[in-house]
Amino acid sequence: MKKIRSFIIVVTIGVLVIVSFAYSGIYDISASSPHSSITNWLFSTTSHASIKRSAKDINVPNLHDDALVLAGVNDFSEMCLGCHGAPGQSPEAMGLGLNPPPPDLSESALIMSSAELFWVTKHGIKMTGMPAWGATHDDDSIWPVVAFIKKLPDLGVTQYQDLLARAKGMGHHTDNSTNSEQSHDGKAIEIPSHYDDNYENDDSEQSEDLRPEPEKHDHSKHDHSSK
Ligand code: HEC
Repeated sequence: MKKIRSFIIVVTIGVLVIVSFAYSGIYDISASSPHSSITNWLFSTTSHASIKRSAKDINVPNLHDDALVLAGVNDFSEMCLGCHGAPGQSPEAMGLGLNPPPPDLSESALIMSSAELFWVTKHGIKMTGMPAWGATHDDDSIWPVVAFIKKLPDLGVTQYQDLLARAKGMGHHTDNSTNSEQSHDGKAIEIPSHYDDNYENDDSEQSEDLRPEPEKHDHSKHDHSSK
């Protein structure tokens, strides 16, 4: 009985400390300051374990299909490039300001399986800037992006531009040469031309990647088997 009473007291004090901390305003919530190593470890470990577990029963279609990759390159450029960047292109201002930072997907492609890439793209990641694309896209619109991401590690700037040129008319974001995006109810959405510079062709292999050194997840601790 005494043990139970002590246990209840300890738990109550613990809860009070946590609630007081939450209301105190001491925690620095700003995206401009880095996460503490404990928060980073906790979030990253929880996130990778959840992705691995959630993706394990997903059936992966045949992704070695040129048409799928070409559809994916357009959709990737419209939906993902702004945050994740692409060969020779750094993310836009929005992506550069996020914390945790959007990872370089050519690295993710080497350590995550296709099923895991698909699951993250479809469901997003809570409390980060990674959106759930499944809210507005069906599975058939997401697999082409995964097929393209799997090609990313082998793509230089020139090959990427080449693919973009060949991909005209492919995917549900069909035309990568204009400044308009196909909305999902068929209406064209005009995107402000402010970002034009980020979409300029750049044939130089040495183009500068402006991305800050990301606060990386330690993938080595998690066994993301590649499919
Ligand atoms: C608004 C910004 C934003 C956009 C747009 C965005 N992402 Fe992300 N994405 C993020 C952020 C931030 C993370 C890092 C989340 C974290 O640290 O857990 C992320 C993480 C990921 C990951 C996990 C990578 C890893 O190594 O853990 C994948 C896969 C991914 N995004 C795919 C995509 C795809 C595919 C698209 C386009 C269809 C896309 N993202 C568009 C912000 C974005």
